Amino acid sequence: MMFRSIPVGCGTYLPSQVITNDYFSTFMETSSEWIASRTGILERRFASESETTSDMAVSAAEEALKNASIAALDVDAIIVATTTPDNIFPSVATIVQHRLGAKKAFAFDVQAVCSGFIYALSVADNMIRCGQAKTILVIGAESMSRILDRQDRTTAVLFGDGAGALVLQATNAATNRGILSTHLFSDGSYKELLYVDGGPGQEKQEGVLKMCGREIFKLAVERLGQAVMTALEANQLTSADIDWFIPHQANIRIINSVSEHFHLPREKVVITVHKHGNTSAASIPLALYDAVSDGRVKENDLIIFEAMGGGLTWGSALIRW
Ligand code: ACO
Repeated sequence: MMFRSIPVGCGTYLPSQVITNDYFSTFMETSSEWIASRTGILERRFASESETTSDMAVSAAEEALKNASIAALDVDAIIVATTTPDNIFPSVATIVQHRLGAKKAFAFDVQAVCSGFIYALSVADNMIRCGQAKTILVIGAESMSRILDRQDRTTAVLFGDGAGALVLQATNAATNRGILSTHLFSDGSYKELLYVDGGPGQEKQEGVLKMCGREIFKLAVERLGQAVMTALEANQLTSADIDWFIPHQANIRIINSVSEHFHLPREKVVITVHKHGNTSAASIPLALYDAVSDGRVKENDLIIFEAMGGGLTWGSALIRW
């Protein structure tokens, strides 16, 4: 028997430390106006020195479980999408499992950088579809501030920290709700355009994020368009059927360019990049939470997610809420 994954609750956590654009102009050659006009970012959150990715993931997960009215002991699996784990190992997911007291759950991380949440959602959906798990906690959590080169104005101003969580549950009831499809893509030949220059296989253990912004920008517009089109075609839908476009929040100009290409009106696009910056794998669940908690997203609404990130990796997901 095939099951369907239904979203039953979401939660978030944002560090309390707000970093405005003006902070950067105190020590580098930039301006609030440049950052706002080129990226749409006005502020972002940075984790405190004592706060880790797992701390944020646990807080987001607790809220998601509470909103779903599900006990930690009833969770079968925890999947954390992150590129900024507390340690190389163990995974953030196993730390979260222990701290939640989710003793029955198996737990692991997914590494697909900014596309991580869509990758994790896809893995979770397929586990539910084939009956391997009935209740899965999917989390996107990042401490991007820990891997930024604070002296590099072309990257330091773009990223933020935070976490978002979504609880999925299996249903075999006749319903058109739930995850309709996920589509994943990768192309490792673009490694040099976006990577961290440290790690166990490198000369230095700790690295910083390196990015060729202009090239990534062009590839993002092209590949995200492909991911959205693939999702629509696979479900025999057109962009007119979409109620909410919830894109990865990297740059308002990328978001506008993809939404304009699909004639998606501004009112249907969920935007949080102005207040969160690019939170990598956390950006989609953070934006989703905003639109669910303020009542924009309603039951049976059709939502499309898209994201592209280092790797390159990219993808899309269609959900009937
Ligand atoms: N303040 C002031 N000037 C700056 C800054 C800054 N913070 N950053 C770059 N500049 C300068 C550059 O040095 C350059 O100067 P030059 O012409 O003298 O060389 C000039 O501004 C223009 O630089 P570009 O890189 O052409 O600027 P662009 O309009 O492309 O914007 C940006 C740069 C914001 C990085 C953009 O390319 C972008 O958003 N790319 C996508 C990157 C991204 O979002 N990556 C995240 C991971 S992948 C993903 O999530 C999709």
